[in-house]
Amino acid sequence: MRIVLVGPPGAGKGTQAAFLATNLSVPHISTGDLFRANISNETELGTLAKSYMDRGDLVPDEVTIAMAKDRMEQSDAADGFLLDGFPRNVQQAEALDDMLQTEGMKLDGVLDLEVPEDEVVKRIAGRRVCRNDSSHVFHVSYKPSQKEGVCDLCGGELYQRDDDSEDTVRKRLEVYHTQTEPIIDYYKAQGLVVTISALGKVEEVTQRAMEALGSKA
Ligand code: AP5
Ligand code: ZN
Repeated sequence: MRIVLVGPPGAGKGTQAAFLATNLSVPHISTGDLFRANISNETELGTLAKSYMDRGDLVPDEVTIAMAKDRMEQSDAADGFLLDGFPRNVQQAEALDDMLQTEGMKLDGVLDLEVPEDEVVKRIAGRRVCRNDSSHVFHVSYKPSQKEGVCDLCGGELYQRDDDSEDTVRKRLEVYHTQTEPIIDYYKAQGLVVTISALGKVEEVTQRAMEALGSKA
């Protein structure tokens, strides 16, 4: 299956993607994680991306689309993928459609995670991620690690993302409303969108998501 996950910052896209990708046997492709890996490896792309991410702005389309395309062309994504954080504006959605069309492929569904803003703020404020791998995600109250400050998965140090400060989160939410939400209408016009509530326990949301995606399989 080829699925796009959409939802505000802190909705739980990364958390759900990890379970959904396993259940659907497709790779989880997160442009945010790809950028963060570039930042920790101190690549040129990482330096460029960091200057936008720290302000809560989108990284320019040209580099983002090239990076996402490169990842989607890897062999593990040949039969499907779960995109998390891409596309993030209508131009990126159009570029993805063009890419898929060239290969004779199409998306199967777009899963829209709905969460009220006050919950998103709580989720982001308590989020801690692993220095070794930003897909290792915890929360100080909702999903605490067994040992404070230490990743249960790899023993790495847990830290608060640079873009999780209050000001940057406000900016990211604004960018989400103005630039990313329009892709929901873009995909609704293609009949691809299923919307679910992302409130409740992580496993309850996964269950809801699997049922919703079942209608698109
Ligand atoms: P990105 O990394 O994609 O950030 P985001 O979209 O803002 O999403 P988050 O990672 O903040 O949240 P999430 O929805 O994954 O939530 P999570 O599962 O962690 O992008 C970062 C930046 O990169 C962007 O601002 C931009 O600059 C750049 N970028 C990325 N893609 C781009 C693109 N395509 N174009 C241009 N620029 C791009 O969960 C949050 C917390 O809540 C965690 O602590 C978790 O444990 C907890 N939690 C999750 N589910 C639950 C639950 N059900 N109950 C209680 N707690 C929960
Ligand atoms: Zn880790």
